[in-house]
Amino acid sequence: MKTSRRGQVPAFEVMEIVERVGQLRADGRDVVSLCVGEPSTGAPAAVRAAMSEAMISGVSTGYSAALGMPELREAIAGHYRRWYGIEVPSRQVAITTGSSGAFLLGFLAAFDAGDRVALARPGYPAYANILGSLGLDVVEIDVSHTDDFQLTTAMLDAAQQEAPLAGLVVASPANPTGTMLDAGQMAQIVGWCTEHDVRLVSDEIYHGISATGEVGECAWSHGRDALVVSSFSKYWGMTGWRLGWMLVPEDLLATVDALSSNLALCAPVPAQIAALQAFGEDVHTQARAANVGYDQARVLAQEFAARQGWRLAPADGAFYVYADISTSLQPGEDSRAWCTSLLEQAGVAMTPGWDFDKVNGGTTVRLSLAVGPELTAEALRRTGEWLTAR
Ligand SMILES: Cc1ncc(COP(=O)(O)O)c(C=O)c1O
Repeated sequence: MKTSRRGQVPAFEVMEIVERVGQLRADGRDVVSLCVGEPSTGAPAAVRAAMSEAMISGVSTGYSAALGMPELREAIAGHYRRWYGIEVPSRQVAITTGSSGAFLLGFLAAFDAGDRVALARPGYPAYANILGSLGLDVVEIDVSHTDDFQLTTAMLDAAQQEAPLAGLVVASPANPTGTMLDAGQMAQIVGWCTEHDVRLVSDEIYHGISATGEVGECAWSHGRDALVVSSFSKYWGMTGWRLGWMLVPEDLLATVDALSSNLALCAPVPAQIAALQAFGEDVHTQARAANVGYDQARVLAQEFAARQGWRLAPADGAFYVYADISTSLQPGEDSRAWCTSLLEQAGVAMTPGWDFDKVNGGTTVRLSLAVGPELTAEALRRTGEWLTAR
């Protein structure tokens, strides 16, 4: 029988490593995992308490409106007022099944098959894979140390000259590099997109997680044509709750509503009810404490990298470091083989750069520091011993 060509996207390699970590642990091996971007803090106490209360009291958990519970959309609008000082009408907040659900809705609403959408390489692999499965033409633009691993308008000019772009995806802080766009850079990108009629999709899922204490720059501070994507997964530590949101420009609102009602009916309602408690000061206190841990882990990773001669992307945010490990590779070895040996022999999981960069990822790895400083220190100690013994 027929199988689709468009569905043939590469698997997310990190999930295969996660599976192998699970097998090793089931066999009794002690593994420290720096591979997955998942805060170990878990959901805030207030959110967990609200979930348990909702379940016990038997409050209605039937479908919500396709774009989400009005109270939660209001609460998110309030969040934009407090964090960014901008007014976001709650009707333009769409609640989604994680930011992953938002990407699918946003890409479907904004682009047609065959449209060209640009993004940075290295980058989060799902952007290109979702776009590819929808029949879009993905234009990967190489970013590097020269530009702090972020796209510039000069690069966009060059891509636009080859053939007009319909869209652009940016992420700040970015995955896998943790680099950020400042207000001036974001303003330039938003301005360039407006000037060239290019729909910007701004992934702001790591906002609030930064070494500098900055929240991150919101694309809607500079215009209202972008799709802004965010999530409860990272800052709030709610990965498995599958809850995110998208700020939707006026001209896409009815389309996103219709698509959402057909594709998902609505985002998980128990999670929506609990997330109403996600904006209290106690929640931010817990998130700030987690940030302190990520910073400590980042310093450990930077010191370790310096000792090994690894070059790191200049991370300011998220909880990742992206390292060029060329100095530690044996002749003919690539990052995938290196990560496999590290996992099997030393019990440390890292993600090979291939996941984020199908061209140059053979010499890079991503370390997720979401486990905090103690486990990061242990992983680096084992990695150091393993490298010395090789
Ligand atoms: C940059 C980026 N965007 C989006 C996501 C998807 O997150 P979620 O669907 O849990 O909101 C991730 C997950 O790791 C990510 O790193």
